[in-house]
Amino acid sequence: MRIGVLTGGGDCPGLNAVIRAAVRKGISDYGHEFIGFRDGWRGPLEGDTMPLDVSTVRGILPRGGTILGSSRTNPMKIDGGVEHIKDNLANHGVDALIAIGGEDTLGVAKQLFDREVKVVGVPKTIDNDLNATDYTFGFDTAVNIAVEAIDRLHTTAESHHRALICEVMGRHAGWIALHAGMAAGANVVLIPEKPFDIERVCEYVESRFKTRYAPIIVVAEGAHPLEGQMSLQSGELDAFGHVRLGGVGEWLAREIEKRTGKEARTTVLGHIQRGGTPTAFDRVLATRFGLQAIDAVHQGDFGKMVALRGTDIVRVPLAEATAELKTVPESRYAEAEVFFG
Ligand code: F6P
Repeated sequence: MRIGVLTGGGDCPGLNAVIRAAVRKGISDYGHEFIGFRDGWRGPLEGDTMPLDVSTVRGILPRGGTILGSSRTNPMKIDGGVEHIKDNLANHGVDALIAIGGEDTLGVAKQLFDREVKVVGVPKTIDNDLNATDYTFGFDTAVNIAVEAIDRLHTTAESHHRALICEVMGRHAGWIALHAGMAAGANVVLIPEKPFDIERVCEYVESRFKTRYAPIIVVAEGAHPLEGQMSLQSGELDAFGHVRLGGVGEWLAREIEKRTGKEARTTVLGHIQRGGTPTAFDRVLATRFGLQAIDAVHQGDFGKMVALRGTDIVRVPLAEATAELKTVPESRYAEAEVFFG
């Protein structure tokens, strides 16, 4: 078989580990051939390829990013997109695809599978918001980067008697904020799933200032206040219709200063959470996903996404994986709330 591989959406530490594992096992155990498609769905759409063999994947296990490049190209928004993809797969003699991506990339994979493209999905996103898998790779790395940053913010906040706000990624789901906030002892964690009361946040800030420590607020980029009057979005949309976020951290700092009279500053971690080398956990998870993905392709088990359930790697229908986002449940937020203030 000749198998095409692509990585789509926001990049994430561990992508290269998946590619390496699928290619290594596919060649050594099954004698398959591989071809890389560049920049997500743009590759098969435009027929933009690169060689993918054992020598190409040597040394990439610890490297962040993706050797294949990525993009948020949505072929479903392009006239004749599906036909272009099918033609290009046929032209390159590609029998099956491994698509590594988040909800958008895998949503396209599902639609292509419905139109008879043989595809297996691998879940990736630092946001950990893909349904049907306990964890996505990249999440552990993002959380560890955020924890290291927040640990550092604690000491400088205390020296200057300031409130420090750390804005992390998480558009619709607050998993990074929740885990980083819990692990780094934040005084407040604000997530998109739970609109916050700015008055209550200021009370937590003031109570923390009564101790010898300083308040640290971890906020997901998609969090918003109860009032819902805040206008933060740039209005720009990507090909999948997502608004580019940013600004809740700065808004919080201004409100806290105004309402408490204390100095407040914001650190936006942004893409630092997505770049660089994956943690050992993410390398192992990504490797196991890659091995399972090539097994699924070899066995002709298409229309599936590989997933982590407990400690096992299983296969679930792409339809189930992309049906809805996995958001933070109330009970998990309640665990973090015990430590607020
Ligand atoms: O989906 C991953 C993610 O990092 C989100 O957390 C974030 O909102 C988005 O991508 C940012 O995307 P971009 O890098 O395209 O601005």
